This record gives sequence, C-alpha cells and structure tokens, in this order.
Amino acid sequence: MKKILVMHGPNLNLLGRRETDIYGKVTLDDINMKLKDLADQLGVSIDFFQSNAEGELVNTIQAALDVYDAVVINPGAYTHTSIALRDAIAGVNIPTVEVHLSNIHKREEFRKKSLLADVAVGQITGFKVDSYLLGLRAAVGIISS
Ligand code: DQA
Repeated sequence: MKKILVMHGPNLNLLGRRETDIYGKVTLDDINMKLKDLADQLGVSIDFFQSNAEGELVNTIQAALDVYDAVVINPGAYTHTSIALRDAIAGVNIPTVEVHLSNIHKREEFRKKSLLADVAVGQITGFKVDSYLLGLRAAVGIISS
C-alpha cells in the first residue's frame, strides 16, 4: 500500500481557535479525520505530523526518505521564510503537494511568495479543508501514474 505523510507547520495546532475569520472553525483533528476517511476510500495509508519547530519539520522530511511515497504539506508561515524546508523537500525528492487553507495570493504581500512552490509538484491554496483533501487526491494521482 502506498504511504502518504501529511505535515502541518506552525500554529496549525491552534486551528479552530486561531483567526477563525480566516481559517474557519475546523480543528486540526477534524482535518486529519477527514483526510483519514479519504485515504481509506482511496486505498492509501496516511500518517500525520505537526510541529511549530522548523528543525523538526526538516528532520521529519528527511526521515520520510524511503518510507513515504508522497508528502502533503501545509508549511504555515515557514512557507514564506524557510530555505531549510525548501532544501529538505528538494533533497529527498519525494513528490510533495503544498496546501493552504487560505488563499495566500489574496492576503498580505509577504504571504504571496512561497519558497516551496517550485520544489513542490503543485500548490493548492484557498479552499479551506478542501485544500488538504484535494492535495491528498493530487498526491495519490501522482504516485499512481
Ligand atoms: C497558511 C497561510 C500562511 O501564510 C500562514 O502563515 C499559516 C496558514 C494557510 O493554510 O492558509 O499559518 O499556510
């Protein structure tokens, strides 16, 4: 069975309480449960990881090598700042889909730039929880083709 790793970056553990006007009331557990249901339907195995620490995210991407077939990642604010995360994704060469709950292109200027976008296979942004579900479908599509 193909294995997918879903990664959530900083502050996403606060979903449901954090800036609900932007991110909605859905919690991280709700998102993970929806992803697990979809993974079961699609016949793939799925694991989840959340961290507020950049180094832990880098370590987890490195540890994914030879274990996971694809990664779906919401890098949170590290999207806009982390060369280390970018290099880790490029380094392991595991197909990676970047997802965002909000549309990063419709917000502040500093959010419009993703340092990961061109090492990811693609980016899905602005569809709230559906960004993750579409991201999972995209990841499964990539590794099945
Ligand atoms: C986010 C967008 C980022 O700019 C922000 O820092 C987040 C969440 C999103 O899912 O919309 O933490 O990645």
